[in-house]
Amino acid sequence: MSDEFVECLAPAKINLFLHVTGRRADGYHCLQTAFRMLDHGDRVALRVRDDGSILRLNEVAGVPAEQDLAIRAARLLQEKTGCRLGAEIRVDKRLPMGGGLGGGSSDAATVMLALNRLWQLDVPRQTLQDWALSLGADVPFFIYGRTAMATGVGEQLQALSLPPAWYVVVEPGVHVPTPEIFRDKGLTRDSEMIIISGFPALDIIKRFENDARNDLESVACRLYPQVAQAVQVLQQFGAARMSGSGACVFVSLDGPDRARQVVEEVKEFIAAQNSAWRVWSAAALDVHPLHDW
Ligand code: C5P
Repeated sequence: MSDEFVECLAPAKINLFLHVTGRRADGYHCLQTAFRMLDHGDRVALRVRDDGSILRLNEVAGVPAEQDLAIRAARLLQEKTGCRLGAEIRVDKRLPMGGGLGGGSSDAATVMLALNRLWQLDVPRQTLQDWALSLGADVPFFIYGRTAMATGVGEQLQALSLPPAWYVVVEPGVHVPTPEIFRDKGLTRDSEMIIISGFPALDIIKRFENDARNDLESVACRLYPQVAQAVQVLQQFGAARMSGSGACVFVSLDGPDRARQVVEEVKEFIAAQNSAWRVWSAAALDVHPLHDW
Protein backbone atom coordinates (compact mmCIF):
# COMPACT_ATOMS: atom_id res chain seq x y z
CA MET A 1 0.00 0.00 0.00
CA SER A 2 1.34 3.44 -0.85
CA ASP A 3 1.57 5.91 2.06
CA GLU A 4 0.33 9.05 0.43
CA PHE A 5 -3.23 9.99 -0.39
CA VAL A 6 -3.67 11.87 -3.65
CA GLU A 7 -6.28 14.60 -3.22
CA CYS A 8 -8.22 16.22 -6.01
CA LEU A 9 -11.12 18.57 -6.69
CA ALA A 10 -14.11 16.85 -8.33
CA PRO A 11 -15.59 19.98 -9.91
CA ALA A 12 -19.28 20.84 -10.20
CA LYS A 13 -20.82 21.39 -13.63
CA ILE A 14 -23.60 23.63 -14.78
CA ASN A 15 -25.64 23.28 -17.96
CA LEU A 16 -25.60 26.68 -19.65
CA PHE A 17 -28.68 25.48 -21.52
CA LEU A 18 -30.34 22.09 -21.92
CA HIS A 19 -32.73 21.20 -24.73
CA VAL A 20 -34.54 17.89 -24.92
CA THR A 21 -34.60 16.97 -28.60
CA GLY A 22 -36.18 13.50 -28.50
CA ARG A 23 -36.62 10.25 -26.64
CA ARG A 24 -34.90 6.94 -27.40
CA ALA A 25 -36.54 3.53 -27.37
CA ASP A 26 -34.78 2.72 -24.06
CA GLY A 27 -36.45 5.71 -22.36
CA TYR A 28 -33.34 7.90 -22.24
CA HIS A 29 -33.70 11.36 -23.74
CA CYS A 30 -31.69 12.94 -26.53
CA LEU A 31 -30.26 16.27 -25.43
CA GLN A 32 -28.37 19.25 -26.66
CA THR A 33 -26.58 20.94 -23.80
CA ALA A 34 -23.50 23.01 -22.98
CA PHE A 35 -21.53 21.79 -19.98
CA ARG A 36 -19.22 24.06 -18.04
CA MET A 37 -17.19 23.11 -14.94
CA LEU A 38 -16.83 25.33 -11.87
CA ASP A 39 -13.86 25.72 -9.52
CA HIS A 40 -16.02 24.48 -6.64
CA GLY A 41 -16.82 20.84 -5.94
CA ASP A 42 -16.30 17.69 -3.90
CA ARG A 43 -12.84 16.60 -2.71
CA VAL A 44 -11.72 13.10 -3.58
CA ALA A 45 -8.75 11.44 -1.87
CA LEU A 46 -7.31 8.13 -3.08
CA ARG A 47 -4.58 5.74 -2.05
CA VAL A 48 -3.50 2.61 -3.91
CA ARG A 49 -3.84 -0.80 -2.22
CA ASP A 50 -1.85 -3.84 -3.28
CA ASP A 51 -4.51 -6.40 -2.33
CA GLY A 52 -7.08 -5.46 -5.00
CA SER A 53 -9.80 -4.37 -2.59
CA ILE A 54 -11.75 -1.15 -3.18
CA LEU A 55 -12.65 0.50 0.14
CA ARG A 56 -14.75 3.57 0.83
CA LEU A 57 -13.41 5.46 3.84
CA ASN A 58 -16.31 7.89 4.28
CA GLU A 59 -19.98 7.24 5.06
CA VAL A 60 -22.67 8.72 2.84
CA ALA A 61 -26.10 8.71 4.48
CA GLY A 62 -28.50 6.55 2.47
CA VAL A 63 -25.86 5.44 -0.08
CA PRO A 64 -24.31 2.00 0.54
CA ALA A 65 -20.77 1.63 -0.85
CA GLU A 66 -21.91 -0.72 -3.68
CA GLN A 67 -24.22 2.02 -5.00
CA ASP A 68 -21.73 4.86 -4.59
CA LEU A 69 -20.71 6.06 -8.07
CA ALA A 70 -17.13 6.71 -6.89
CA ILE A 71 -16.77 3.08 -5.76
CA ARG A 72 -18.55 1.74 -8.84
CA ALA A 73 -16.17 3.77 -11.03
CA ALA A 74 -13.13 2.13 -9.40
CA ARG A 75 -14.68 -1.36 -9.75
CA LEU A 76 -15.56 -0.69 -13.39
CA LEU A 77 -11.98 0.29 -14.20
CA GLN A 78 -10.69 -2.80 -12.40
CA GLU A 79 -13.08 -5.11 -14.28
CA LYS A 80 -12.43 -3.58 -17.69
CA THR A 81 -8.64 -3.70 -17.37
CA GLY A 82 -8.15 -6.76 -15.14
CA CYS A 83 -6.00 -4.59 -12.87
CA ARG A 84 -5.06 -6.40 -9.64
CA LEU A 85 -4.45 -3.27 -7.61
CA GLY A 86 -7.09 -1.74 -5.33
CA ALA A 87 -7.78 1.62 -3.73
CA GLU A 88 -9.00 3.43 -0.64
CA ILE A 89 -11.34 6.27 -1.58
CA ARG A 90 -12.62 9.14 0.53
CA VAL A 91 -15.11 11.67 -0.84
CA ASP A 92 -15.63 14.89 1.07
CA LYS A 93 -19.10 15.86 -0.22
CA ARG A 94 -19.61 19.57 -0.74
CA LEU A 95 -22.04 19.37 -3.65
CA PRO A 96 -25.68 18.58 -2.93
CA MET A 97 -27.21 15.29 -4.09
CA GLY A 98 -30.08 15.77 -6.53
CA GLY A 99 -28.73 19.24 -7.20
CA GLY A 100 -28.10 19.15 -10.97
CA LEU A 101 -24.42 19.99 -10.46
CA GLY A 102 -23.18 16.51 -11.34
CA GLY A 103 -21.59 15.81 -7.94
CA GLY A 104 -21.78 12.00 -8.02
CA SER A 105 -20.81 11.91 -11.71
CA SER A 106 -17.84 14.16 -11.09
CA ASP A 107 -16.65 12.02 -8.16
CA ALA A 108 -16.85 8.94 -10.42
CA ALA A 109 -14.94 10.59 -13.27
CA THR A 110 -12.27 11.91 -10.92
CA VAL A 111 -11.78 8.42 -9.47
CA MET A 112 -11.42 6.94 -12.98
CA LEU A 113 -8.96 9.61 -14.11
CA ALA A 114 -6.91 9.33 -10.92
CA LEU A 115 -6.79 5.52 -10.85
CA ASN A 116 -5.96 5.34 -14.57
CA ARG A 117 -2.80 7.16 -13.57
CA LEU A 118 -2.14 5.68 -10.11
CA TRP A 119 -2.62 2.11 -11.42
CA GLN A 120 -0.48 3.03 -14.47
CA LEU A 121 -3.11 1.77 -16.90
CA ASP A 122 -2.79 4.37 -19.69
CA VAL A 123 -6.32 3.76 -20.94
CA PRO A 124 -7.04 6.41 -23.62
CA ARG A 125 -9.47 9.16 -22.63
CA GLN A 126 -12.08 8.21 -25.27
CA THR A 127 -12.14 4.62 -23.96
CA LEU A 128 -12.64 5.87 -20.39
CA GLN A 129 -15.49 8.06 -21.67
CA ASP A 130 -17.11 5.05 -23.42
CA TRP A 131 -16.86 2.92 -20.26
CA ALA A 132 -18.04 5.77 -18.02
CA LEU A 133 -21.37 6.11 -19.85
CA SER A 134 -22.58 2.96 -18.04
CA LEU A 135 -22.23 4.90 -14.76
CA GLY A 136 -24.40 7.83 -15.89
CA ALA A 137 -25.00 10.18 -18.79
CA ASP A 138 -22.92 13.04 -17.26
CA VAL A 139 -19.82 11.01 -16.37
CA PRO A 140 -18.21 11.04 -19.88
CA PHE A 141 -18.25 14.85 -19.85
CA PHE A 142 -16.16 15.05 -16.66
CA ILE A 143 -13.64 12.60 -18.14
CA TYR A 144 -13.53 14.68 -21.33
CA GLY A 145 -12.72 17.47 -18.89
CA ARG A 146 -13.28 20.61 -20.97
CA THR A 147 -16.15 23.00 -21.62
CA ALA A 148 -18.29 21.12 -24.12
CA MET A 149 -21.36 21.06 -26.26
CA ALA A 150 -23.02 17.68 -25.81
CA THR A 151 -25.54 15.71 -27.84
CA GLY A 152 -26.72 12.09 -27.71
CA VAL A 153 -27.76 11.48 -24.10
CA GLY A 154 -24.94 13.84 -23.16
CA GLU A 155 -22.01 11.64 -24.20
CA GLN A 156 -21.20 13.04 -27.65
CA LEU A 157 -18.89 15.90 -26.84
CA GLN A 158 -17.42 18.77 -28.79
CA ALA A 159 -15.04 21.34 -27.30
CA LEU A 160 -16.48 24.80 -26.74
CA SER A 161 -14.23 27.76 -26.11
CA LEU A 162 -15.86 30.40 -23.92
CA PRO A 163 -14.54 33.55 -22.24
CA PRO A 164 -13.94 33.56 -18.44
CA ALA A 165 -17.14 33.71 -16.38
CA TRP A 166 -18.30 33.92 -12.77
CA TYR A 167 -21.46 32.41 -11.42
CA VAL A 168 -23.59 32.56 -8.31
CA VAL A 169 -25.29 29.26 -7.49
CA VAL A 170 -28.27 28.78 -5.16
CA GLU A 171 -28.98 25.36 -3.65
CA PRO A 172 -32.69 25.60 -2.80
CA GLY A 173 -32.55 22.87 -0.13
CA VAL A 174 -34.52 20.24 -2.06
CA HIS A 175 -33.31 17.06 -3.77
CA VAL A 176 -34.73 16.60 -7.25
CA PRO A 177 -34.72 13.00 -8.52
CA THR A 178 -33.67 13.16 -12.20
CA PRO A 179 -35.96 10.32 -13.45
CA GLU A 180 -39.02 12.08 -12.02
CA ILE A 181 -38.32 15.17 -14.14
CA PHE A 182 -37.56 13.25 -17.35
CA ARG A 183 -40.69 11.09 -17.14
CA ASP A 184 -43.08 14.02 -16.50
CA LYS A 185 -45.91 14.17 -19.06
CA GLY A 186 -45.53 17.93 -19.42
CA LEU A 187 -41.85 17.80 -20.48
CA THR A 188 -41.03 19.38 -23.86
CA ARG A 189 -39.30 16.65 -25.85
CA ASP A 190 -39.11 18.16 -29.31
CA SER A 191 -36.81 21.16 -29.04
CA GLU A 192 -34.88 21.93 -32.20
CA MET A 193 -31.13 21.50 -32.32
CA ILE A 194 -29.29 24.82 -32.38
CA ILE A 195 -26.73 24.65 -35.16
CA ILE A 196 -23.64 26.36 -33.80
CA SER A 197 -20.77 25.35 -36.06
CA GLY A 198 -18.84 28.33 -37.29
CA PHE A 199 -20.10 30.75 -34.65
CA PRO A 200 -17.51 32.62 -32.62
CA ALA A 201 -17.78 31.99 -28.85
CA LEU A 202 -19.42 35.32 -28.07
CA ASP A 203 -22.19 34.74 -30.60
CA ILE A 204 -22.81 31.40 -28.97
CA ILE A 205 -23.15 33.07 -25.57
CA LYS A 206 -25.69 35.52 -27.01
CA ARG A 207 -27.66 32.63 -28.48
CA PHE A 208 -27.61 30.89 -25.07
CA GLU A 209 -29.16 33.96 -23.57
CA ASN A 210 -31.72 34.62 -26.28
CA ASP A 211 -32.78 31.32 -27.86
CA ALA A 212 -31.75 28.80 -25.27
CA ARG A 213 -33.31 27.52 -22.06
CA ASN A 214 -33.39 24.50 -19.83
CA ASP A 215 -36.37 22.39 -20.92
CA LEU A 216 -36.34 20.60 -17.56
CA GLU A 217 -36.78 23.86 -15.64
CA SER A 218 -40.54 24.37 -16.01
CA VAL A 219 -41.20 20.79 -14.87
CA ALA A 220 -38.90 21.10 -11.84
CA CYS A 221 -40.39 24.49 -10.93
CA ARG A 222 -43.90 23.04 -11.04
CA LEU A 223 -43.00 20.02 -8.88
CA TYR A 224 -40.62 21.87 -6.54
CA PRO A 225 -41.77 25.45 -5.78
CA GLN A 226 -38.46 26.10 -3.98
CA VAL A 227 -36.71 25.86 -7.36
CA ALA A 228 -39.15 28.38 -8.87
CA GLN A 229 -38.48 30.72 -5.95
CA ALA A 230 -34.71 30.40 -6.41
CA VAL A 231 -35.09 31.31 -10.11
CA GLN A 232 -37.18 34.32 -9.13
CA VAL A 233 -34.64 35.52 -6.56
CA LEU A 234 -31.64 35.16 -8.90
CA GLN A 235 -33.48 36.80 -11.79
CA GLN A 236 -32.95 40.17 -10.09
CA PHE A 237 -29.27 39.82 -10.98
CA GLY A 238 -29.43 38.47 -14.55
CA ALA A 239 -30.72 35.59 -16.67
CA ALA A 240 -31.14 32.93 -13.96
CA ARG A 241 -31.30 29.32 -15.09
CA MET A 242 -31.63 25.90 -13.50
CA SER A 243 -28.75 23.43 -13.96
CA GLY A 244 -29.42 19.87 -15.17
CA SER A 245 -32.63 18.46 -13.70
CA GLY A 246 -32.31 20.81 -10.68
CA ALA A 247 -32.54 21.76 -7.94
CA CYS A 248 -29.68 24.30 -8.24
CA VAL A 249 -30.11 27.61 -10.04
CA PHE A 250 -27.31 29.85 -11.30
CA VAL A 251 -26.76 33.29 -12.74
CA SER A 252 -23.72 34.65 -14.57
CA LEU A 253 -22.07 37.82 -13.18
CA ASP A 254 -19.58 40.28 -14.65
CA GLY A 255 -16.67 39.47 -12.35
CA PRO A 256 -15.65 37.91 -9.02
CA ASP A 257 -16.38 41.06 -6.99
CA ARG A 258 -19.90 41.40 -8.33
CA ALA A 259 -20.43 37.67 -7.76
CA ARG A 260 -19.39 37.98 -4.09
CA GLN A 261 -21.66 41.00 -3.69
CA VAL A 262 -24.62 39.03 -5.06
CA VAL A 263 -23.82 36.14 -2.69
CA GLU A 264 -24.07 38.57 0.25
CA GLU A 265 -27.39 39.95 -1.01
CA VAL A 266 -28.85 36.46 -1.44
CA LYS A 267 -27.55 35.52 2.04
CA GLU A 268 -29.51 38.43 3.49
CA PHE A 269 -32.63 37.13 1.74
CA ILE A 270 -31.98 33.62 3.07
CA ALA A 271 -31.53 34.93 6.63
CA ALA A 272 -34.73 36.99 6.40
CA GLN A 273 -36.68 33.96 5.14
CA ASN A 274 -35.03 31.65 7.65
CA SER A 275 -34.69 29.15 4.79
CA ALA A 276 -32.35 26.19 4.31
CA TRP A 277 -30.93 27.51 1.05
CA ARG A 278 -27.22 27.77 0.43
CA VAL A 279 -25.52 30.21 -1.91
CA TRP A 280 -21.95 30.47 -3.21
CA SER A 281 -19.98 31.88 -6.11
CA ALA A 282 -17.49 30.15 -8.38
CA ALA A 283 -15.43 30.82 -11.47
CA ALA A 284 -15.71 28.76 -14.62
CA LEU A 285 -13.03 26.07 -14.81
CA ASP A 286 -11.90 25.39 -18.38
CA VAL A 287 -9.94 22.19 -17.75
CA HIS A 288 -10.47 19.35 -15.25
CA PRO A 289 -7.64 19.35 -12.64
CA LEU A 290 -6.60 15.81 -13.69
CA HIS A 291 -6.94 16.40 -17.44
CA ASP A 292 -3.22 16.40 -18.20
CA TRP A 293 -2.06 14.55 -15.15
O1 C5P B 1 -27.64 8.66 -16.55
P1 C5P B 1 -28.17 9.09 -15.22
O2 C5P B 1 -28.07 8.00 -14.19
O3 C5P B 1 -27.64 10.37 -14.74
O4 C5P B 1 -29.71 9.33 -15.46
C1 C5P B 1 -30.68 9.25 -14.44
C2 C5P B 1 -32.05 9.12 -15.08
O5 C5P B 1 -32.39 10.32 -15.79
C3 C5P B 1 -32.17 8.03 -16.11
O6 C5P B 1 -32.54 6.81 -15.53
C4 C5P B 1 -33.27 8.54 -17.03
O7 C5P B 1 -34.52 8.29 -16.44
C5 C5P B 1 -33.06 10.04 -17.00
N1 C5P B 1 -32.26 10.56 -18.14
C6 C5P B 1 -32.85 10.62 -19.39
N2 C5P B 1 -32.10 11.11 -20.44
C7 C5P B 1 -30.85 11.54 -20.28
C8 C5P B 1 -30.23 11.50 -19.00
C9 C5P B 1 -30.98 11.00 -17.94
O8 C5P B 1 -34.01 10.24 -19.57
N3 C5P B 1 -30.16 12.01 -21.32
